[in-house]
Amino acid sequence: MSDKMTIIELAIIPVNMKQGEKKMTRPYVFITRKLSEEILAPLKEIADVQMWNSESEAVPREVLLEEAQKADALLTMLSDKVDRELLSHSRNLKVVANLAVGYDNIDLEAASETGVIVCNTPDVLTETTADLTFALLLATARRITEAQEYVKEGQWQSWSPYLLAGADVHHKSIGIIGMGKIGQAVARRANGFGMEVLYHNRNRHLEAERELGASYRSFEQLLEQSDFVVCLTPLTEATRHLFDRDAFKLMKKSAFFINVGRGQVVDEEELIEALQQNEIAGAGLDVFYQEPIGSEHPLLKMPQVVAIPHIGSASVETRTTMMKLCCDNIMAVLHGKEPKTKVR
Ligand code: DGY
Repeated sequence: MSDKMTIIELAIIPVNMKQGEKKMTRPYVFITRKLSEEILAPLKEIADVQMWNSESEAVPREVLLEEAQKADALLTMLSDKVDRELLSHSRNLKVVANLAVGYDNIDLEAASETGVIVCNTPDVLTETTADLTFALLLATARRITEAQEYVKEGQWQSWSPYLLAGADVHHKSIGIIGMGKIGQAVARRANGFGMEVLYHNRNRHLEAERELGASYRSFEQLLEQSDFVVCLTPLTEATRHLFDRDAFKLMKKSAFFINVGRGQVVDEEELIEALQQNEIAGAGLDVFYQEPIGSEHPLLKMPQVVAIPHIGSASVETRTTMMKLCCDNIMAVLHGKEPKTKVR
């Protein structure tokens, strides 16, 4: 067994068990990252739980495959691949609870063929992710990270009119690609900044149009007309590489691209070229094609790029709620009940 594996609880005999009574086999739950004991307490009442004992390092594929083969339930991160290979060898597996609203890391078709329920964490992260989206947009437009480095490096000599002058956000136009719950929460924040809200979505969202004054545009119109293009669309076969060189060419040269959706919605090579050729003004990126990115990544060499490590929903409050929701979903399935937030 790897030294990263923590046996949280093994074969605890239920308190009401009589002497000599045969112990019922408890379900086995494997968690792919270290979570707090407190959050896991209710789950530990009904199951044997093990977790990969690292907060930052992902569980190796071979460990995940091995544990999944024994597990009744998996609590996974968005970086864990739950594919056909894993699902077809996991004979006892009943539920995968993914600690994210996105579930592009899970093969839903294979899960449904093997009778595995997939759960995610929608709603509870909406406002937190919208906060981060807006923070990233503001940081990119107003050059906040560049400005901080400037001060920290001791370069600040005097006040000067053009020093780190960025772009205004208020009263500009924002184009939201993906008008789901997070998209609408971003639109509410944009309303507070007096921005014109444009959106593109698979389907028209009449409530967002009515309540938030959002105007529907085709993908191309949105790119042409927005000062800030905000990508929040999930990764599907239809959205993979949606943002390619042609898309960036349609954007205003003064416009910023903000991505808090998924990295593979963007052809990253073509984004780099668009930035190098000044076809767009800058980019704020929470997500990348292949995560994590190393410190030598070309996007990190560009002052007009703000790059952060996929922290859209990362507030302590929201992450705690997401973890609890995952545990609740697992417990529901293990009790033969309907989980609260089932994807399929
Ligand atoms: C998710 O939950 O899918 C988001 O990417 C979190 O940041």
